[in-house]
Amino acid sequence: MKSYNKLFENNKNWVAEKKKENPNFFNELSKGQTPEYLWIGCSDSRVPANEITGTQPGEMFVHRNIANMVVHSDMNLLSVLSYAVEVLKVRHIIVCGHYGCGGVLAAMGNKQYGLIDNWLRHIKDVYKMHHTELDSIKDETEKGRRFVELNVIEQVYDLCKTSIIQNAWKNNQEIFVHGWVYDLNDGLIKDLDVTFASNEELPKVYQFTM
Ligand code: CO
Repeated sequence: MKSYNKLFENNKNWVAEKKKENPNFFNELSKGQTPEYLWIGCSDSRVPANEITGTQPGEMFVHRNIANMVVHSDMNLLSVLSYAVEVLKVRHIIVCGHYGCGGVLAAMGNKQYGLIDNWLRHIKDVYKMHHTELDSIKDETEKGRRFVELNVIEQVYDLCKTSIIQNAWKNNQEIFVHGWVYDLNDGLIKDLDVTFASNEELPKVYQFTM
């Protein structure tokens, strides 16, 4: 039997389970979505957004890429963000990184990986911004963990710098932008306490006015 056949088996079992819990589950879902959260996480297979947060289909709009990056020229990210904010009106946007992130650790080193180096460059820029702090951490594991956290924090800033978020705030739409980190060692999510609800804490040059 081909290994992927189990995915169809699992799917049928999942459908049966959902229907047992709520016979109308799929009828209700097919009518549309009103998720309260937008999740921006890493593509890493060990960090499944819905599973680790106990959210159900319909509750979380999800964007994932290598190292949970918010690159302001990335049309994919911008489209997801714009739809989530302007159409779905999500209330919370969560950037969730994870310790041991391969993308972040690769960006910390000097090895060449090919095309992906162009993506990792954005993470190297974060290192450069925080090199004084990061260079002072001698333990490589600790340094990697802190780099993961700083990368999340910079992505939170980058979200707040977008015209999409700032226009929503200007129109009195309540949106909280959060930075979290997931620990693969114990499965727990930590809040990095960098929540933004307005552009006032951003450096002046990034603040859009009327
Ligand atoms: Co990762």
